[in-house]
Amino acid sequence: MRENLFRAVSIGPLKIGGNLFLAPLAGYTDLPFRTICKEWGASFTFSEMVSSEGLARGSKNTFELLKRGELEEQFGIQIFLNDSEVVERSLEPLLEANPSLIDINCGCPVPKVVKTGAGSALMRDPSKVEAIVKALTRLTTIPISVKFRTGWNHESINYLEIADAALGSGASMVTMHARTKTMGYSGKADWSALTTLKQFIEKHYPSTPLFGSGDLFSPEAAREMLHTTGVDGVMFARGALGNPFIFHQTRHLLTTGEQSPPPSLEERLETLKRHLTLLVEEVGEEAACRNMRKHAPLYLKGLPHASKAKQLINQALTYEQYLEVTEQLKGG
Ligand SMILES: Cc1cc2nc3c(=O)[nH]c(=O)nc-3n(C[C@H](O)[C@H](O)[C@H](O)COP(=O)(O)O)c2cc1C
Repeated sequence: MRENLFRAVSIGPLKIGGNLFLAPLAGYTDLPFRTICKEWGASFTFSEMVSSEGLARGSKNTFELLKRGELEEQFGIQIFLNDSEVVERSLEPLLEANPSLIDINCGCPVPKVVKTGAGSALMRDPSKVEAIVKALTRLTTIPISVKFRTGWNHESINYLEIADAALGSGASMVTMHARTKTMGYSGKADWSALTTLKQFIEKHYPSTPLFGSGDLFSPEAAREMLHTTGVDGVMFARGALGNPFIFHQTRHLLTTGEQSPPPSLEERLETLKRHLTLLVEEVGEEAACRNMRKHAPLYLKGLPHASKAKQLINQALTYEQYLEVTEQLKGG
């Protein structure tokens, strides 16, 4: 009998219909891209990471990140902060955005963030993780989750301690990106750490979901992670960039046991255009065309003439110019 790997998840009181999530990706998971991923079957989406300090200061650019789309009835906001002291000061705008889930970033390796003591720097001080989760659970009934890595480096693997700090303080879910901070995004994610963490959570915090992240580049990889590690769900990150089809394909694989055909050329180009249209609605035509330069090559990866198309896209400043490129690609 096939295992039921596609399933609903409960995060505290929050019930979500599926376990294929879109990870937070700074610079990528804005409202238009999240909408595209929802349209292709993402069970749940997160904002890009949002600075609690920015919220507390009333930064307009930070508030922009809190906007949710029409398809995001359920929506997670990920915050980054270095101390529990910021929690109360930043809470009002956060609650106004009415997130279904608030996630705390303990994994970001970017120097600008780490330098302030936020992101993966929090892994070096589990008592801070504890204090932040406690402050949030004291001030709101919204479920809290924590996303972290396996440790700072290979000599300081401490994910069990971080999970314990988070869950012992009232978090309702954890996600682990199975790399250390010093690995950044390179090397192979260590999925065996997910297995160990799942066993730990089952023993000490039963019924608390664990999500896995790291090297989820195909539906088969997601199936393997779910099957081999026992995680309750997966978060697609780089694997969803230019490839929102991965949500639909993974659900198909998990529910039927069969691979779905890859997206057709037509589907890829139509999705690219839809993505651009949503971006234009959000930020205006020229900014959308510039922003799309980081997404478009990912939609076109592997197509014949992709490199020529990329050159043209790098100069395109209007929707019409993008259209010319997609028409050319259709012509072969
Ligand atoms: C460009 C980029 C931006 C990211 N931004 C965030 C972020 O804002 N918050 C977060 O928790 N993780 C962030 N991550 C990490 C991803 O959510 C994910 O955990 C990581 O990429 C591992 O998954 P993958 O190997 O399948 O890509 C980011 C990763 C990338 C590549």
